[in-house]
Amino acid sequence: MFLKNYWYAAALPGELGERPLARTICGEPVVLFRTEGGTFAALADRCAHRAAPLSLGTVRGESIECGYHGLRFGPGGACVKIPGQDSAGAAGPAVRAYPLVQRWNWLWIWLGDPALANPDTIPALSWFDNAAWTPFQLYFHVQANWQLFSDNLLDLSHVSFTHAKSIGSPEVSEIPLKTWVEGDRVFNRREMRGVTPGPFVADWGGFTGRIDRISSTEWSPPANLAIEARFADASNEIVVMVVNPITPETETSTHLWMGWARNFRLDDAAFTARARQENEQVLHEDIVVIEGQQSRLGADSAFRPYSIKADAGLVQARRIVARLLQAEASNAA
Ligand code: FES
Ligand SMILES: [Fe+2]
Repeated sequence: MFLKNYWYAAALPGELGERPLARTICGEPVVLFRTEGGTFAALADRCAHRAAPLSLGTVRGESIECGYHGLRFGPGGACVKIPGQDSAGAAGPAVRAYPLVQRWNWLWIWLGDPALANPDTIPALSWFDNAAWTPFQLYFHVQANWQLFSDNLLDLSHVSFTHAKSIGSPEVSEIPLKTWVEGDRVFNRREMRGVTPGPFVADWGGFTGRIDRISSTEWSPPANLAIEARFADASNEIVVMVVNPITPETETSTHLWMGWARNFRLDDAAFTARARQENEQVLHEDIVVIEGQQSRLGADSAFRPYSIKADAGLVQARRIVARLLQAEASNAA
């Protein structure tokens, strides 16, 4: 069950070089490629001739050539060449083309009704195109349902336990979280005064003692999260924006994207390299737990989770997703 009339982060522009890229998104096999002229394109990864994956083929000029019998398709999906035949033409074979837009250094794909594909509804991630911030992006291919990652990011009390060795403050889970809903969005905020920073955070801000820490999260459907994390002592405040556009691959696997942007040490390339590594560690700490959850859930479909106070945000988000899925299904019927 996937929401289709939304933009999903499909790839980083830098992932598309000379070779086409195969990526399954919401259960649909897609081939992503960059033409020699620089156009990014997303097509169904199934040749209109005899169904070979186009991702096994080759980019030729402004088209992709199937690696089986050499039919070529342009970025709009129309066949532009059939070997041994004069021309493909308007009545020739075609593959489905998906709207694809480059924004905030991601390529966003639209799997739903193309008439509804409005790029203005791509999540606003301006920190990733703003000289006041230094960003980087990470990608993880993980074996768990996409909603488990929204759950994780909507309840940061896990930071005290899962991330005790990296970014966790032991006090976090004891401090109440304020959660509220606006339309289809869920927000939460936790203000923590005089807490101990985890080792990574102490290093980022040069903090030697206790700090104030405020985290504010915004979730929007299907699974886009933006977390503003403020860390401050009497002499210094640093802000980190962590964004996670979460893209389902299948019901039990996910393309987990992370963008991390900071407003300090902007030109420090060595710091960027270290922060990348540290965040890879943080995400791996999450992934171990979440893949474990998936395997336990998969083994017993009768299991019903027990909700605690800290689950308020994720319960709301899941309700919104369920309502939107129902609305898409009844519109399609
Ligand atoms: S299957 Fe693609 S050209 Fe024949
Ligand atoms: Fe986490």
